[in-house]
Amino acid sequence: MKKEKIIEVNDLYAAFDSLTVLSGVSFSAYQGEVTVILGGSGSGKTTLLKHLLGLYPIMGGRISILGKDLAQLREVEQVELYHKMGVLYQSGALLGSLTVAENVALPLSQHTKLPPELISDIVYMKLGLVNMAHAYHLYPSQLSGGMLKRAALARAIAMDPPLLFCDEPGAGLDPVSLESLDQLILNLKNQLGMSIVLVTHEVPSILRVANRIVFLDQGQVAFEGPLKEAMHSKHPAVSAFFSVLKNEHVRELVR
Ligand SMILES: Nc1ncnc2c1ncn2[C@@H]1O[C@H](COP(=O)(O)OP(=O)(O)O)[C@@H](O)[C@H]1O
Ligand SMILES: [Mg+2]
Repeated sequence: MKKEKIIEVNDLYAAFDSLTVLSGVSFSAYQGEVTVILGGSGSGKTTLLKHLLGLYPIMGGRISILGKDLAQLREVEQVELYHKMGVLYQSGALLGSLTVAENVALPLSQHTKLPPELISDIVYMKLGLVNMAHAYHLYPSQLSGGMLKRAALARAIAMDPPLLFCDEPGAGLDPVSLESLDQLILNLKNQLGMSIVLVTHEVPSILRVANRIVFLDQGQVAFEGPLKEAMHSKHPAVSAFFSVLKNEHVRELVR
């Protein structure tokens, strides 16, 4: 069965003053898949993600998300589309003065007219999805790093977005918390059919969750395709990265 293209980027160009960050970037992401964006530090992964989220004006090229050309959207359509996209940032960034439940409720109270009782029920359900129902009344300062990420994930999916973007969500997590975060991401894909775009450097995460790899190098896409093919890419940067990955994978198996 042919998978539906959910994101299509064509010849995207991005620069900050004289620094060209993306130069002719093209790739696609598909419905119900986890697309992992890889590349060295400063290779433009976050810049690319922010373009997909519509946070930067498009300087060159074209981005189409859920069949909509980002540059052609009227304001109403823009808002409609952005409500279909959830985001989990590296920092997690929950508001410290609000409880976990109040944090997760924010997008719902800001962007919907749902009655407060229904919002509470939805929040409880979302926290349950990320194994955080017990933290409903806690404040962010009372949570561990892994719990903070899971609470931020609950907030990112509060509006039931079909599309979720995560920028290095595993950074700074211990291996056990990382694995449980990966498991949640897989659950969102497998049980709710979400399409997920994930920026990560974490080798175990890539092996656990990636369907498709987009590898950025020197402002261009050095590889695009299934994880299995990425491991055999002849491109120097991609092959260097995956030779490490293979070794770590082997080490993990031997352990
Ligand atoms: N808002 C900005 N203003 C100026 N330069 C930026 C800005 N955001 C990113 N950059 C630069 O663009 C390059 C790519 O950054 P980024 O997209 O954050 O890379 P990555 O996420 O892959 O580490 C870096 O050289 C970075 O310093
Ligand atoms: Mg980044």
